Amino acid sequence: MKETLSPEAITRNLGNRLIGRRVIFYPSVTSTNELAKEEARRGAEEGTVVIAGEQTGGKGRLRRSWLSPGGSIALSLVLYPEVAELPSLIMAASLAVARSIAAVTGLEPRLKWPNDVLVGERKVSGILVESQVRGSRVDYAVIGIGINVNFKVADFPEIAPAATSLAGELGEKVSLTALIRRLLVEFEGRYLALKAGGGSLYEEWRDSLSTLGQEVRVESGGDVQVGIAQSVDRDGSLLLRNPDGSLSRVVAGEVRLRHQTEQDST
Ligand code: BTN
Repeated sequence: MKETLSPEAITRNLGNRLIGRRVIFYPSVTSTNELAKEEARRGAEEGTVVIAGEQTGGKGRLRRSWLSPGGSIALSLVLYPEVAELPSLIMAASLAVARSIAAVTGLEPRLKWPNDVLVGERKVSGILVESQVRGSRVDYAVIGIGINVNFKVADFPEIAPAATSLAGELGEKVSLTALIRRLLVEFEGRYLALKAGGGSLYEEWRDSLSTLGQEVRVESGGDVQVGIAQSVDRDGSLLLRNPDGSLSRVVAGEVRLRHQTEQDST
């Protein structure tokens, strides 16, 4: 049976202080990130979550599209972080996704730099952080999270070779409500720790990355670099050991200016 999401079921006794204080649900939208940005521009309270039953124009990183048919999770969080906290958002989000999938399904997801969550070798979730920054002030940041949950990737040939879904891995459906609730709790813990200046988000993220030590191919700005993923920095960038032995730093997806002040921060 198809699960119908409801804000009440998601927030009931959640126990969060910030994330999910307000949850807005739409059966079908173009992109939850776009709606969350509109909410943020209107001054929505921090922790507002926009969730969609499906997206018709979901956005991925590097201006790609993101497929979110019914049965997937597509949600965006509205945050007002400090500029110095921006690089940590992707760490908090990807860890929250991986830990919530593990807790709810028993699967063991892995993180692939910069922000993919894989089960086995296939992508099960992607994260798109968009922020508007003016000088040293962040107007808002929106974290968009997509998870392939209860649909067959085989029905979507455009993603089938590199993607998987939780139901596909498990052979049974997963409760979207349970997974979203756990995700909001896992994210809140890390975000509040970050705001309090404590915790070890960077170390937890670095130690969870399966990319390190492996040969990688990084495409950015039309450029392709191949090397060994040596390490990651606190700002989220990847340190790549080039074939000639030198080290170069790769900033995730490059910062791409949309307008003068709006950027993908992934
Ligand atoms: C990627 O791996 O390229 C990032 C995918 C991010 C997809 C999510 S789904 C919810 C939110 N709304 C969007 O339009 N995109 C993000």
